[in-house]
Amino acid sequence: MNREDYYKRIETPEMLDYGVYLKCDQLLSCQKPLADLCTPDELQFQIVHQVEELWMKLICFSLVEVLDYMKERQTHRVNTLMGRVHQLQRMMIQQLDVLETMSPKEYQEIRLQLGNGSGQESPGFRTLLKMPPDLWESFNTHYLEAEGRTIRDIYDENYAHDDAYIVAEALIEFDELFQKFRWHHVFLINRSIGLGSKSLKGRSVDLLQAAAKYRFFPELWDIRSDMTDRWGGEYGVVREPIHVAAK
Ligand code: HEM
Repeated sequence: MNREDYYKRIETPEMLDYGVYLKCDQLLSCQKPLADLCTPDELQFQIVHQVEELWMKLICFSLVEVLDYMKERQTHRVNTLMGRVHQLQRMMIQQLDVLETMSPKEYQEIRLQLGNGSGQESPGFRTLLKMPPDLWESFNTHYLEAEGRTIRDIYDENYAHDDAYIVAEALIEFDELFQKFRWHHVFLINRSIGLGSKSLKGRSVDLLQAAAKYRFFPELWDIRSDMTDRWGGEYGVVREPIHVAAK
């Protein structure tokens, strides 16, 4: 087959039941026609972004289910679904690396195609950013307030590795993976356009580094340093070395 034959087969394959059910014809026509790509790398650029949008759709959908299950205190369900969300987040982070196979020059050619588009307009990301306050409220209402408990209680004073603790750890894992995605994305930008430049919205790309430090559930992070301060309160900041005490 020559190039044209291959392109035809890639873009408009024969549709059997598998393809009909999955709407492969529509899916494969969501990218620029292969003959119109500004550089061959434009196809991976579009596909990686589209795949990430699909994963964010599945994450948001799963988190809506999590909210319902938290209300019913179905902790096993919450845990399974949060595990799925974490796997999806890890994939999202890993998949950014595909774009590091693109040269800075090829990216500049693609960038000319983007208008004023920016990742901050990503529909999935914008929905995702709205969800943590609802997750926190649901956790607080159904796992803490309903039983008159506090974060300190479940992590330290009455630590029992119980349902409330398991859900809290699932939430902090979500928060950590979200921050890791943002950091990884900063590295991707550094590889492709450099951190000193301006985004297509005219903002300094450096601002993304500040966003990468943002925490959705600060209470869950702060309890760790609170505990270190309290447990360490007896010995102060610096302790006697063990080898001296042992003599
Ligand atoms: C070479 C590849 C990429 C480059 C050069 C790039 C560049 C950028 C830049 C410059 C911004 C800041 C936009 C602004 O301030 O208006 C941004 C934001 C963003 N990009 Fe990308 N990006 C790339 C790939 C991706 C991919 C694959 C995704 C997949 C989801 C993505 C998602 C986002 C998101 C969600 C934001 C907003 C980030 C936040 O608010 O923390 N980007 N990107």
